[in-house]
Amino acid sequence: MNSESFFQSAWQKYKTITPDASKVENLLRGRGEQLINDHIALRTFNIPGISRLELGTLFEALGYLKKDDMVFTEKKLMATYWLHPDSSLPKVFISELILEKTSPELQKWIHSVVDSFISGMGPLSLDVFLNPSWNPPNFVDYQKHYGESEYAAWTAAFGLQVNHYTVLVNALKTFSSLQELNEFLVAQGLSLNTAGGIVKGTPDQCLEQSSTMANKIKWAFADQTCEVMSCYYEFARRYPDAAGKLFQGFIPTSADKIFESTFEKK
Ligand code: NI
Repeated sequence: MNSESFFQSAWQKYKTITPDASKVENLLRGRGEQLINDHIALRTFNIPGISRLELGTLFEALGYLKKDDMVFTEKKLMATYWLHPDSSLPKVFISELILEKTSPELQKWIHSVVDSFISGMGPLSLDVFLNPSWNPPNFVDYQKHYGESEYAAWTAAFGLQVNHYTVLVNALKTFSSLQELNEFLVAQGLSLNTAGGIVKGTPDQCLEQSSTMANKIKWAFADQTCEVMSCYYEFARRYPDAAGKLFQGFIPTSADKIFESTFEKK
């Protein structure tokens, strides 16, 4: 599979559980905009076979280069991002939950959800993000462990599919700022993630980000079908760094708040 067909197929799959992404896409195309994808994000666990660095090798095979690691202490996550020498291809951001830092009960639950999938999955390929992953857990267990780690619950429920796509705001012609885009989206009835303020990051940090709140969709768990938070759509405006080149990295404090776009409102 080449990069283009992968990102296209993953985009179609993502939109089936993210109605707001289609809504935003239609609104922006309606203004004559062309959408450039800044990055995709994927979520996993640090379990051999599906760890973030193993998943990253699938993108390295497409020519991507591994860049920085990031640590999210409070959420017990680590993440890494990859860039492609062809800057028209999106950056790839993969995070993983560090299971040893979670409770024995949560570790046991995650292993019960993913282990048989991993032992039966064969060699890794990009299809791992397009095909269904492990069978969804029981909703009662999802709820039980949600309080300890929303990230664990989300990933157990949805598997290895793309968690979000991201509009590169720099490429939009009819908006001069991220704030202006946010105001337009709110006026159109979309709800944005307000954790840490609607805009995360500053021009000084060379990256400003915002995102929709994840859609709430009906999802078939093993025991029942329930409405849960699925995926969100992100918006990123990048600024030149000290060397005058458009910044291509990520800001951990901003990413930390963006993770909360899938959090159930309390
Ligand atoms: Ni992102």
